[in-house]
Amino acid sequence: MSKASRIFVTGAAGMIGSSVAAALLADGHMVVGIDNLWRGTSRNLDALKANPNFEYRHADIAADRNWSFDVGADDTIVHTADIVAGIGFVFANEWTIFQKNLLINTEIARIVHFQQPRQLIYLGTACSYPQGLQRSTEGSVLSEEVKFPADPESGYGWSKLMGDIEFRLAVKGKRTRLTVLDLHNVYGWPCVYRDNTAQVIPALIMKAITSQDRSLSVWGDGKQGRAFLHVNDVVAAVRAALGYAGAHDNFMIGPDRCTTIAEVADLIRQHPRIGIDRVVFDPTKPTGDIGRYADASRAKAELGWEPRVEFRQGLHELIDHVIDDWQANR
Ligand SMILES: NC(=O)c1ccc[n+]([C@@H]2O[C@H](COP(=O)([O-])OP(=O)(O)OC[C@H]3O[C@@H](n4cnc5c(N)ncnc54)[C@H](O)[C@@H]3O)[C@@H](O)[C@H]2O)c1
Repeated sequence: MSKASRIFVTGAAGMIGSSVAAALLADGHMVVGIDNLWRGTSRNLDALKANPNFEYRHADIAADRNWSFDVGADDTIVHTADIVAGIGFVFANEWTIFQKNLLINTEIARIVHFQQPRQLIYLGTACSYPQGLQRSTEGSVLSEEVKFPADPESGYGWSKLMGDIEFRLAVKGKRTRLTVLDLHNVYGWPCVYRDNTAQVIPALIMKAITSQDRSLSVWGDGKQGRAFLHVNDVVAAVRAALGYAGAHDNFMIGPDRCTTIAEVADLIRQHPRIGIDRVVFDPTKPTGDIGRYADASRAKAELGWEPRVEFRQGLHELIDHVIDDWQANR
């Protein structure tokens, strides 16, 4: 694509959005970042703002249309803004999350329908896939074909699926190409690790750092698992999807292995800067879907994408980031 055209990255202050925006700037693109700092941070924007090819528009996508009037036919939208959080927050706020994500996504659909940018890349989620197919850590492989008939477990999963469906309708008969990347559980830096929206890995790291009795408490029996995907691998998937003009509009993005939460906790325990000697399980707390992992063969064949970051290494690097940040800012 032409470097003179712009890429609008919604959620540019978030974990994935800021990483994607940085990579696109490094590739020489002009990037417009949109965020309302609901969960993303101005700190994540600082490095982006230092680049003259970056422009920041502070806006609540669901309520403020001003930024969107500039989206033109040569532009691309990489849509990462949605309400995302760990499982405790998700199940305590299902309707709010559902409603907010519907409002955000319907606004993006309106922009796409009427202004017809070149491409919309939407970050979907494995949480939108049927819960009945996520009942074990060994057999629950998800591919694009099993998304329907739909039965996501949470309001979050449903809201993300509604976005997916509405985007399909919005681009029907239009020139805009839709590319949906259904991501498994993403981890990496910069992430939220110290508030109630933290996701499982940063939340566990934080518990380990602040433990008073050298124990690490894990929700559930630890046998539940996820296919953990490093944020750098998400960036690679977005780069690969940019300008994609092939036959498919939906890609499953994740590793082909499910790592249990007990395994994650043990890997955290093994980090040299973590002072934990036992992991304890709390079966009274929610675990969500039991397990899932990805069949990413379509992404490999069509986009040349496959995950590259080895989990233990990515996790240990994240632990270093969190400890450094915690020590510098507590
Ligand atoms: N993190 C994961 O494990 C994961 C897994 C699958 C899919 N995804 C998807 O990837 C995308 C990015 O996730 P993330 O982990 O970077 O989350 P994040 O919370 O770090 O980033 C989302 C960003 O969107 C912003 N935002 C929220 N509401 C907004 C609004 N109304 N207007 C403008 N900005 C708003 C937030 O402030 C935040 O900066 C989301 O769409 C999410 O559903 C994430």
